[in-house]
Amino acid sequence: MKAAPDANFATQCIHGGLEPDPQTGSVMTPIYQTSTYAQSAPGEHKGYEYARTGNPTRTALQNNLAALEKGKFGICFSSGLSAMDAILRTLRPGDEVLASDDLYGGSYRLLTAVLGNFGLKSRFVDMRDTDQLAGHITEATKLLWIETPTNPMLNIVDIQALTDLARDRGILTCVDNTFASPYLQQPLELGADMVLHSATKYLGGHSDVVMGAVITRNEELAKKLYYLQNAVGAVPGPQDCFLVLRGIKTLHLRVQRACENARHIVEVLRQNDLVANVYYPGLASHPRHEIAAKQMRDFGGMVSFDLKEDTQEAATQVMQNTHYFTLAESLGGVESLIGHPASMTHASIPREQRLSVGLTDSLIRLSVGVEDGEDLVKDLEGALTKAMALA
Ligand SMILES: Cc1ncc(COP(=O)(O)O)c(C=O)c1O
Repeated sequence: MKAAPDANFATQCIHGGLEPDPQTGSVMTPIYQTSTYAQSAPGEHKGYEYARTGNPTRTALQNNLAALEKGKFGICFSSGLSAMDAILRTLRPGDEVLASDDLYGGSYRLLTAVLGNFGLKSRFVDMRDTDQLAGHITEATKLLWIETPTNPMLNIVDIQALTDLARDRGILTCVDNTFASPYLQQPLELGADMVLHSATKYLGGHSDVVMGAVITRNEELAKKLYYLQNAVGAVPGPQDCFLVLRGIKTLHLRVQRACENARHIVEVLRQNDLVANVYYPGLASHPRHEIAAKQMRDFGGMVSFDLKEDTQEAATQVMQNTHYFTLAESLGGVESLIGHPASMTHASIPREQRLSVGLTDSLIRLSVGVEDGEDLVKDLEGALTKAMALA
């Protein structure tokens, strides 16, 4: 049964915005595998006319996502980037986006190489310093694009401070909440206008779907985004919506376990002689630990570290010697992944720009899964030892 609006997060994961299927009582949302719907007379239908415009499985997921992020409207897209593209299409040529300088490479590419050609201006700034950020705002600035924790440096941006600043200046804010998941962080509660998810990651949680979503409380924005969802047509299919709905039912459990495992791994990495720096917002030594503790429930399953021997070759030795950590792009699934941002997820960012934010040639990013924590620690320690022997 639909969760009460004030029900706690675990209850929202399972019941938020959801009701048994009105036709059959089916407890799990059915997969409405159809492209069109019968009409009793021209224009007379049961709320659905064509599946690009609407599909009941998608509607259920959108309602569930709205409940999880304490929003009013959820709008799903065929990928995280198509969700971002829809948000950016609400802007006009000449408008400017200020985005985090430590940003997912695909988001950077969409802002610069794709939408830059249509007159959208983007600047990439350090969002940790609110005063400095305020100095970058111009008449043209219409949107702050905030990622926190950032990918892959795990920097933390103070969401409340930025949304306060933006609201005062009449600028919209969107927080990419992919790394945290709504279990750990709820940006709308901190004043953001929109939250973006690559649902491909923690929401889906099983590395079997590509999808994106935007959640908002702002009806005017929601209307524009529903319009673009239909008018541009980057919609997810009903099977994928079902899979994400199913994934969300265990979101809280998976993220809790990933956080626990990550804590354990971080301690071990910090003591390893091969490792130069460990980046994890849960570390008391993390420069923004206190802000992370203020705005997040826990510190997540993403960990980055680099090596004293700062070369791609050294990183490759480590990554090729793990057993449970699979060398692959993506994150947020039940299985642990290991990746090399400089050559994989962030290859589209120029080297100097990468280095300026600490994204070194040997930086390794872990998406810690929900396997047994001891096994994961042994796996990483073994890979580091083998890499050291080969060096
Ligand atoms: C932080 C972040 N935002 C957005 C995206 C894009 O999502 P998708 O791959 O679903 O298009 C990703 C993908 O890795 C990501 O890591």
